[in-house]
Amino acid sequence: MTNQIPEITLNDGTNIPAIGFGTYKLWGNDGAAAIASAIDHGYRLIDSAYNYENEGTVGAALKRTSVPREELRITSKLPGRYHTYDKAVKTIQESLYRADLDYYDLYLIHWPNPKQDIYMEAWQALIDAKKWGLIRSIGVCNFLPEHLERLEKETGVLPSINQVELHPFFNQAEQRKWHEEHGVVTESWSPLTRASDVFTNDTIKDIADKHSKTASQIILRWHYQHDAVAIPKSASPVRQLENISIFDFVLDDEDIEAIDELSRTDGRMKDQDPAVYEEF
Ligand SMILES: NC(=O)c1ccc[n+]([C@@H]2O[C@H](COP(=O)([O-])OP(=O)(O)OC[C@H]3O[C@@H](n4cnc5c(N)ncnc54)[C@H](OP(=O)(O)O)[C@@H]3O)[C@@H](O)[C@H]2O)c1
Repeated sequence: MTNQIPEITLNDGTNIPAIGFGTYKLWGNDGAAAIASAIDHGYRLIDSAYNYENEGTVGAALKRTSVPREELRITSKLPGRYHTYDKAVKTIQESLYRADLDYYDLYLIHWPNPKQDIYMEAWQALIDAKKWGLIRSIGVCNFLPEHLERLEKETGVLPSINQVELHPFFNQAEQRKWHEEHGVVTESWSPLTRASDVFTNDTIKDIADKHSKTASQIILRWHYQHDAVAIPKSASPVRQLENISIFDFVLDDEDIEAIDELSRTDGRMKDQDPAVYEEF
């Protein structure tokens, strides 16, 4: 068994790697070095966001690597304060200027902000920006099934990806099932719970010992076996390599079930329920 990263096909026919790299809090020169290191270690799917103020950092990292642009899948996200159609279009253009890119592979609506209720305009802007060639694939983050159903009902277009909070303490079983039934790929944010006590959890530690792997590798393999594309962030080249080295072993059903049982209905890290929580 090799450690090569498998690919997943999206509902628009494009491919992405089965694991990516998170960049929240990676910015400036150190951030660019960390992102370039991740690419050099084999990551090809890079997550970023307008609100992380690091699209320029991602662009700088791309200039430091010799990996061809067409092998990379670069993501950014539209903030809640720019959901109106005209602002969304200008924000996508600004995201491209910041990263010095001609196109994003993935562009996602960052939060639905249902009280504000303008995400339909944002979605139409993403659909059009895709037609204009500014974006290859379009998606969302933190959308509940009711939000996704509305996108499809009003535009006929479902997102390729929904990036949601997903980790052993909040495994999103129902949301994942909805995605699977509708051909939407699940991406997991904070897949390692931002290095909380998940790493010292006895269940995870026992499974790590059984497979002679680290806790992080067990958790990321669990995401993969649930068809969820994890995007772990690490500033450390050593941990970047550790996190991507998960394709040479298999968790058995018993392992998966034991990790599934760690999930709690109140397991969100910061109680950010997209039905009520809004971010701008
Ligand atoms: N769409 C959304 O609303 C949303 C929300 C949150 C995050 N995101 C995206 O998801 C990405 C990942 O989530 P996240 O950054 O919140 O958290 P995360 O990836 O779950 O955890 C990152 C933390 O874990 C540590 N870490 C990484 N690998 C490790 C290892 N092998 N052993 C020990 N510690 C390790 C990192 O420290 P070091 O850096 O020191 O290694 C960092 O403190 C973000 O970077 C961002 O791109 C999206």
